[in-house]
Amino acid sequence: WLVRAVVSPDQVRTTILFPVAGNWYRACLNAKNLMKIWVDRLKQEHTLPPEGYKALLTCTHVDVTTYLHRQAQKVTQARFGNNIYIRGLIEISNCCRNNCYYCGIRKGNPQVERYRLSRETILDCCTQGYELGFRTFVMQGGEDAAQSSEWVEETVAAIRNRFPDCAITLSLGEKTREEYERFFRAGANRYLLRHETFNAEHYKLLHPAEMSQQNRIQCLHWLKEIGYQTGTGIMVGSPGQTTDHLIEDIRFIECFRPQMIGIGPFIPHQNTPFGTSAPGSIEQTLRLLSIFRLMLPDALIPATTALATLAPDGRERGILAGANVVMPNLSPCEERIKYALYNNKASLGAEAAEGLAMLNKQLQAIGYKVLPTRGDAPNGDNPFK
Ligand code: 5AD
Repeated sequence: WLVRAVVSPDQVRTTILFPVAGNWYRACLNAKNLMKIWVDRLKQEHTLPPEGYKALLTCTHVDVTTYLHRQAQKVTQARFGNNIYIRGLIEISNCCRNNCYYCGIRKGNPQVERYRLSRETILDCCTQGYELGFRTFVMQGGEDAAQSSEWVEETVAAIRNRFPDCAITLSLGEKTREEYERFFRAGANRYLLRHETFNAEHYKLLHPAEMSQQNRIQCLHWLKEIGYQTGTGIMVGSPGQTTDHLIEDIRFIECFRPQMIGIGPFIPHQNTPFGTSAPGSIEQTLRLLSIFRLMLPDALIPATTALATLAPDGRERGILAGANVVMPNLSPCEERIKYALYNNKASLGAEAAEGLAMLNKQLQAIGYKVLPTRGDAPNGDNPFK
């Protein structure tokens, strides 16, 4: 086959000339159809050249984005049916040694009323969650030196002992390899650590000098090597982020192959250096979500709280674009407000564990239901299967 493509001067229409049985035939491709070809190719081959990702990230044509989301939704349904996995999120401490410029609980924010949960409180949250149907508990917190690795290890062991049929996910930031190993041996199965941005220069813009992109990536490799089902991800629309940065993020995720991918829009927090920056775009977040789904059909991808915070129908739109996980909040009600990573962070209604009935209703309205199981990564470890 010899195909010749002629692009019109305004780049809206491409004419393709192709020979069949000695005759040249002509077909017209408009920009919209070209985009759909990128989507189909990503769906089939699970990878694109950088210009394909660029085209998808910069194309705002509604028919194209609808097609992208629809294909991603189809891939999700083929793999997971109409089931949504739930994870009970327990925010165990808002104390943090880091000073990330975007984060509301950064060390340098004196307005935060700091708290840390006791082991007993955490176990109570798990008990409540278990009764509600949760079979995954996510312990998330700032990098809190007062919660020593011995304390974390013993807490993991206590949850493992009391809830042997549940998955334990940790999201406690950067640790040493030995610490990750100890938590894993104590019974943790999964670890969430977003790389935030793969571009080292951009990483520097978002974080103070003592933090590095290299260490973040090193931690992710350790986690995977140890055997954790590993999650990473980014904030979309963080200050200084460009389309080329997003392409670097996509290519990193394509190569790293995490079992879980967390993507939410950046949302400013008033008491941070980025307090007056514009929030990220919901549409761009959803486009990325669909791209990741087509790239890694087995991935566990949450419709994040940040998405639900920025738009009242954000969670549903995330699911319709290919997400298959939601993470309702199981933290004690009086502490939820203190874990403010960004302005107006949602923790009530369907974002709350006790709002599970409401969540189910919202999901039913778009044809989905909550599945009260562990929901391990299809190729991850599960000693209970
Ligand atoms: N907006 C959106 N997401 C944020 N996170 C932290 N601060 C913000 C913010 N201002 C995200 C980071 C982190 C996760 C726990 O929360 O990506 O990894």
